[in-house]
Amino acid sequence: MTLATADAGGDPTARVLILKDVSPEGWEFASDEGSVKGRDLAARPYAALTFYWSPLARQVRVRGPVVRATPERCAADFLSRGAGARAEALLGRQSMPLADPAEWDAQVETSLVRIKNDPDLVAPGWTLYSLRPDSVEFRQGDKERRHTRLAYLATPEGWTKQLLWP
Ligand SMILES: Cc1cc2nc3c(=O)[nH]c(=O)nc-3n(C[C@H](O)[C@H](O)[C@H](O)COP(=O)(O)O)c2cc1C
Repeated sequence: MTLATADAGGDPTARVLILKDVSPEGWEFASDEGSVKGRDLAARPYAALTFYWSPLARQVRVRGPVVRATPERCAADFLSRGAGARAEALLGRQSMPLADPAEWDAQVETSLVRIKNDPDLVAPGWTLYSLRPDSVEFRQGDKERRHTRLAYLATPEGWTKQLLWP
């Protein structure tokens, strides 16, 4: 999925992320709190998600406030990752300038040794985020251009749904 965030000044940026789960907590994704997206969400905890399935001509858009999961759930997400992904995340340097790829290799190697010696090690900045949707829109593309757009909006009384002009 594509996650769009905005910084404290309102400037947007977007990147592709794994959707970890959709649960009563929200639409969940995980990253380093020190990354650009982590800093954006700390300053402005509101985001948008976009999904596109080309063979189905289907798009889903979601917007809403973002909350951090409990430390226990963040740790469980971190520990569910493979050793390589944990080693990388342990460095906690996502989105920082990298002067030399050899430095990255060396630091990942050191991280792998740390993980081997302590398999329960959790990166302190690793964060599971939940986006709590306040709007969800489904778009079904049609070969004859009779596209369908269906928007759901959260209200205090529950979800309302509304067709939109394509
Ligand atoms: C298919 C795919 C899946 C990705 N999944 C994640 C993810 O789950 N978490 C993450 O932090 N970065 C993920 N990335 C990397 C991000 O796109 C991005 O490069 C990185 O998180 C830094 O983003 P930022 O500088 O905007 O914070 C993924 C990239 C691709 C192409």
